[in-house]
Amino acid sequence: MSKRVELHPASIKHIKKGHPWVTKDKYSLNFPNRDLFLWSKTGENERVMLLNDPEHSQVKARVWSIIHQNDTFTDKTFKEELTQRLEKAKTFRESLNLNRENYFLCFAEADQLPGLYIIVLKDRVLLQLYSSFWQHFEKTLITFLRKYFKDDKVWIQKRNKEQAKIFQCLSKKVKEDSFELEEFGVKYKIQLNQNYDIGIYTDMAAIRNRLSGSFADKDVLNLYSYTGAYSLFALNDGAKTVTSVDLSKKYIKVLEDNLSLNDLTEKHLSIVGATLPVLQKLIKEGKTFDSIICDPPSSSTDGKKRTKAIDTYKDLLPLFNKLLNKKGEALIFLNTHSITRNKFESKIKEYNKDNIFSITGHLKLTEDCPSLKGFPEGDYLKGLKLLKKKSL
Ligand SMILES: C[S@@+](CC[C@H](N)C(=O)[O-])C[C@H]1O[C@@H](n2cnc3c(N)ncnc32)[C@H](O)[C@@H]1O
Repeated sequence: MSKRVELHPASIKHIKKGHPWVTKDKYSLNFPNRDLFLWSKTGENERVMLLNDPEHSQVKARVWSIIHQNDTFTDKTFKEELTQRLEKAKTFRESLNLNRENYFLCFAEADQLPGLYIIVLKDRVLLQLYSSFWQHFEKTLITFLRKYFKDDKVWIQKRNKEQAKIFQCLSKKVKEDSFELEEFGVKYKIQLNQNYDIGIYTDMAAIRNRLSGSFADKDVLNLYSYTGAYSLFALNDGAKTVTSVDLSKKYIKVLEDNLSLNDLTEKHLSIVGATLPVLQKLIKEGKTFDSIICDPPSSSTDGKKRTKAIDTYKDLLPLFNKLLNKKGEALIFLNTHSITRNKFESKIKEYNKDNIFSITGHLKLTEDCPSLKGFPEGDYLKGLKLLKKKSL
């Protein structure tokens, strides 16, 4: 049923503090390929049960539980625990009374379901597998989902590094699905099995909610806008104008569909282009804004060179200084598990050496996307509020 393995002493130390991953090292490289479950001694009478993931490039195993040395661990107990954890995750989301049709029913490690995300999208549900381990227990997962959703509304996506889309509907007849859902009174178009992502980032929803009231009467610039969730949110929040910038013509087209869906086309301008040259152009034209939202992908290319988001901020901050009105605010995000919140903040302070901005707030995953103590990688979405104090 499970195979004993040796863990790096540092892994044991981290696991005991609540970290749920065993990453690639000289110990985990020796993990067997075939066994689904691994275990290792973590103390005198205690062992950790691990979900094996030989295919993953970095996360070689994920913690399922720490049990007493004499406890039995069988396929049956695992499936029972899995169902219990899924039900518990669902009950927790119901208790939140969220004012939206999109939410995470299960947020992986934070729900003790490592590598497993489940997003409710109106009457559909999308199961996202970040670990190939889960493919062996799809039946148990599907039995759970079938209790609450119809087969033609259940989708499974195997997320891999290559960003291939690989969506499958439980009903084999359904190949694609396009529909609308509502988040905080705004309708968005969702497309399943068109692109790797689906048209809305649900992990941002709780953060959007926290920003309610921030955009009234403001001229807003939304950079890396994707399909415009922040743009529409700001317009619905009373923004005077919103300008959205994205490199992708395809996503800007969905953004424009979203504007039409909500009758919000009037105060909006779409710009297809790479952020940096677009900002230079806006500065030349003398445009200014009261609020800038900036949520770049962890690394991006303008067609010529690839830049990490953290490094892009070095170029972006001086441009924000020129574009923001007095007392203007920039909401800046970093979306990666590989840079900690402290590192992000210290880099921004370094780029803000002329002390133009003050950090006035922090934004993080919350509500249906909780964080797990001792697991900074799970806190992957980091935001800072920057207030412009002065101009240079
Ligand atoms: C993480 S998504 C932004 C999500 C958005 N903030 C939301 O909450 O819906 C990143 C977006 O950046 C766009 N992008 C990537 N590189 C870019 C660049 N250099 N300039 C402008 N947009 C870019 C991508 O097309 C994608 O739509």
